[in-house]
Amino acid sequence: MLNLRYDFNNLLAECVGVHGIGEAELKLLAPKIAAAADAVAKMPLGFRKLPYNAKLADEITVMASEIQERCDNFVVVGIGGSALGNIALHSALNHPEYNNLVRPARRGPRLFVPDNVDPDRINALLDAVDLDDTMFNVITKSGGTAETMSEFLVFREALIKKLGEERHIEHIVITTDPEKGELRKIVRKFGYSSLPIPPDVGGRFSVLSAVGLLSAAVTGIDIHALLKGAAEMDEICTKSKKLWENPALTGAALHYLMEKAKGKNVQVMMPYSHALRDVADWFRQLWAESLGKRVDRKGKVVHTGQTPEKALGATDQHSVMQLYIEGPFDKVITFLTVDEFETSVEIPHAFDEYDAVKYLGGHTLNELINAEQRATELALTQSGKPNCAIRLEKVDERGVGALLYLLEMQTAYAGELYNINAFDQPGVELGKNFTYGLMGRKGYDAKRREVEEASKPNPKWVVSV
Ligand code: PA5
Repeated sequence: MLNLRYDFNNLLAECVGVHGIGEAELKLLAPKIAAAADAVAKMPLGFRKLPYNAKLADEITVMASEIQERCDNFVVVGIGGSALGNIALHSALNHPEYNNLVRPARRGPRLFVPDNVDPDRINALLDAVDLDDTMFNVITKSGGTAETMSEFLVFREALIKKLGEERHIEHIVITTDPEKGELRKIVRKFGYSSLPIPPDVGGRFSVLSAVGLLSAAVTGIDIHALLKGAAEMDEICTKSKKLWENPALTGAALHYLMEKAKGKNVQVMMPYSHALRDVADWFRQLWAESLGKRVDRKGKVVHTGQTPEKALGATDQHSVMQLYIEGPFDKVITFLTVDEFETSVEIPHAFDEYDAVKYLGGHTLNELINAEQRATELALTQSGKPNCAIRLEKVDERGVGALLYLLEMQTAYAGELYNINAFDQPGVELGKNFTYGLMGRKGYDAKRREVEEASKPNPKWVVSV
């Protein structure tokens, strides 16, 4: 048993009234759900093979222990799907103050994932690490993303200056397509060590490939247990094609109906667990980039997709929750909850003569955060705001592997219900191509001219102060 429960009660009409889904709607969707389940079963989905690649996990474990011995800093140089999974695994499964711990208390080098090219951020990182002790893991599936390649050039030059041409090679590991892309050519020519990203696995589905596994293993995460949880979830999400048996299919169907039949255009993922906060960030990309599409599979213009947002419990109860409870009926909330936290904090007794304080003494922060979640869930439900919850027994490798995989499968099923290709990202590619043009990449002159033509704002509509 994975001890993970996906609780759909509060998406149903019997709990939230007219904003919930009724039996008739589910009945109507049944043929489409069956077709989606069949289609996903037949699709050659690369990400579905990842949980079973124990050989790669062994290889990465060996590489990771060598890096642990040699380095005190590990920098992931990647963006989007080549960074968000790494961040999610790190915050979920490593100590919350991991980088601030002294080395004996840390399981490996400090981890940095800038996931951006802001010059101040990159310079600050260079200020913070000793290059002698630093390993850079350059991750890019295409082997040509401008942000990643630029950072690669910057860090490589810094390494060469400090360590020399020959030694710098030992401080870079490249994770990219095994055959294609300019970066693979660079690996071959200059002898950097490297790991493969399977060609049939897209960035946002790659967390359980070498993309996410190396930084996880280097920081001491048990990657075999992570894959085990994902493999268990793979079986659960594929052995049955029935609603209420297959959690990913049920999640996909209910969210699809929420959007299509109930107008809930926004899905907010709200973990009541600090450790899971970046899972919400990772999921935002997965859901948005997979389902946000202009055309369906037949080429018909559909402009489809539900906007994923993130919030954090209990923090955001004091920020956006007022809007969620009393604002428009355009959202569906997905809580992530945890039964057993890693540690416990008892709230001491004091000031017993004051009622606003007295009742807290003797409870734990564990009880408080879960009480806050239950209270928020009920407040939303009573206000007719649909919500569901994915409840984990605890945040460990097996549970996180299962959770991430569940969300990937839910996304794959949702793609079929929307009848779109959930595995491409033409919108992102368009932006990338304009950037290449602006930065002078060969073959992208037309794109540069297009941006230059378009980027002439009418000064009349610009308020300059
Ligand atoms: O999910 C995706 O495909 C994207 O978000 C990519 O991960 C992102 O654009 C980075 O691409 P690459 O790994 O090719 O550098």
